[in-house]
Amino acid sequence: MKLVTCCSFKGGAGKTTALMGLCSAFATLGKTVALFEADENRPLTRWKENALHRDAWDPHCEVFAADDLPLLEAAYEEAEGRKFDYALADTHGGSSELNNTIIASSSFLLVPTMLTPLDVDEALATYRYIIELLMGENLVIPTAILRQRVPVGRLTTSQTAVSEMLNALPLTDAPMHERDAFAAMKERGMLHLTIRKIDADPALRLGLRNLLVAMEELQQLGRFVNGALER
Ligand SMILES: Nc1ncnc2c1ncn2[C@@H]1O[C@H](COP(=O)(O)OP(=O)(O)OP(=O)(O)O)[C@@H](O)[C@H]1O
Ligand SMILES: [Mg+2]
Repeated sequence: MKLVTCCSFKGGAGKTTALMGLCSAFATLGKTVALFEADENRPLTRWKENALHRDAWDPHCEVFAADDLPLLEAAYEEAEGRKFDYALADTHGGSSELNNTIIASSSFLLVPTMLTPLDVDEALATYRYIIELLMGENLVIPTAILRQRVPVGRLTTSQTAVSEMLNALPLTDAPMHERDAFAAMKERGMLHLTIRKIDADPALRLGLRNLLVAMEELQQLGRFVNGALER
């Protein structure tokens, strides 16, 4: 089982959304995904409830409470025992012993950030924190910055400038753009299943294109993460 973790010091950086999307991308490959809920606000539990309600939850995926160390340990053991292909951990913002443990147990780390000076500052601080933590533990875990909520059109001068600051760090090959389809996942459920439902209903098909573009972005992220895991 490969553990992929989204972390950032900053709240609202897009961790949970990136994780939901990655879960959907892995599910389209027929993979099983354990979701470790290490945020006491339980956004993934709510996501699952909403998704079940909308008939857009893949039963090969499961949410495990993991918002303290004993729960995390139990979740890890159970998910390993049940031979999940992936575990995805959604952390709360900031640093904590729980987050440190998750980071050190991961196979891949994603640090999402929006392109504002404040967000990028926090992303750089998170990246540095991770590297120092890993060095202290003698660990090498591939880590990449995920540019999240990037405008679809042209970037402003400020966005271009902060984006260039990130170029010195390992980045995922493509950003996640600011898309309604991503924002709506928390209410609607897994994107690939939403797409399947909409595709089956001729009255709804008009909105399909945007969802497909969003899904392609998630699959690209999935391929990137898989490539890093294989290396
Ligand atoms: N690519 C995107 N396009 C549009 N909206 C997005 C995107 N990514 C995230 N959002 C929206 O931004 C808000 C914050 O995202 P999210 O909850 O994923 O951040 P977070 O880092 O998990 O926050 P927290 O620190 O509170 O856990 C949510 O309302 C989400 O729907
Ligand atoms: Mg979150």
